[in-house]
Amino acid sequence: MRIPFIVGNWKMNTTVAEAVYLMDAMVNGLEDIQGVEIAVCPPFVSIFPLYEMLRGGNLLLGAQTMDFHDSGAYTGEVSPLMLAPLCQTVILGHSERRQYYGETDTTVSRKLRAALQYRLMPIVCVGENLEEHEAGQCSEVILRQLAAAFEGITEPKNTVIAYEPLWAIGTGQAADGLHANETISTIRQAVYDRFGAQAAGAIRILYGGSVTAANIAEFISQPEIDGALVGSASLKDAEFIRICQITSEIKVPPELRQR
Ligand code: PGA
Repeated sequence: MRIPFIVGNWKMNTTVAEAVYLMDAMVNGLEDIQGVEIAVCPPFVSIFPLYEMLRGGNLLLGAQTMDFHDSGAYTGEVSPLMLAPLCQTVILGHSERRQYYGETDTTVSRKLRAALQYRLMPIVCVGENLEEHEAGQCSEVILRQLAAAFEGITEPKNTVIAYEPLWAIGTGQAADGLHANETISTIRQAVYDRFGAQAAGAIRILYGGSVTAANIAEFISQPEIDGALVGSASLKDAEFIRICQITSEIKVPPELRQR
């Protein structure tokens, strides 16, 4: 069974004080949820304070991006070597990184290899833009992004994939559950073709794009969707907790929800 996974991507929001306040408001509610893996990905400057808050608990801490080198003259960057002692996971190739900061399929692939090397669970984002969506090129775009990301990788290990259609991110216009399920099934087939049945059965694939407490059920009740990458709704403590609770209620068998 694949463990459902909900990731909060705080993006460039919260000062350190606000991040600590938000985490403090959510930590108990999130830790009570059974059978769902939950990660929060704050801005870099808040990783260490949150690491200290979450140490010893069952929540995962993640970064929103990273460089692929270990160290050196790369002004402004943060390396997997620096993140590995503090974080368990890292988001790679988010469309905002691709759009505004020159992230390419090639850099995503290098970062994926670096994350696996440092045992940071990579969350690789793929997704088509509105133009590609309207031209019916969704599968083609995603398969190209995936093939590039997995270049040179023989085993995906604990890699997670997030399907995030660009037209659904931050727009309040989520994809519909059936479309997301269909696309995620195409992604799983691509993993099968490349790495075989075991990897395809084990890999977790998330949906992302305007997920809220009001629509999470539509996604999580789909058989191929293993969780969600949540942006703006992850900045509201009660709503993020509710998203995780609904995921547990729908995806986790009752006997595994007992404490
Ligand atoms: P959103 O962002 O939930 O605010 O649409 C999702 C994401 O970009 O990961």
